[in-house]
Amino acid sequence: MFRRIDRKTTLNDACDVTFVWEGVTLIGKAGDTVAAALLAAGVNHTRAHPVTGEPRTAYCMMGVCFECLVAIDGIPNRQACQTRLRDGMRVDLQRGARK
Ligand code: FES
Repeated sequence: MFRRIDRKTTLNDACDVTFVWEGVTLIGKAGDTVAAALLAAGVNHTRAHPVTGEPRTAYCMMGVCFECLVAIDGIPNRQACQTRLRDGMRVDLQRGARK
């Protein structure tokens, strides 16, 4: 389980970013990548392996492994670790193999 390092600033609430994961509204922080926001929110399954069906999620967090693929605003095959979180962003499970 991941958790944030608490920075103890009074500006934390101003840095909140609201996004939707699989129809559920979650809160991330400004500057987060999508992968970081999902892990901090306790989401540990962002796609299924296309052959075995095993749950997968972000691994390297630097754009190398492609384990973090998700659909963002309806567009599949987006690397969550390489995409900055935006307010109102809709993020869904990656379904099927990437193309
Ligand atoms: S976590 Fe490895 S490419 Fe995104």
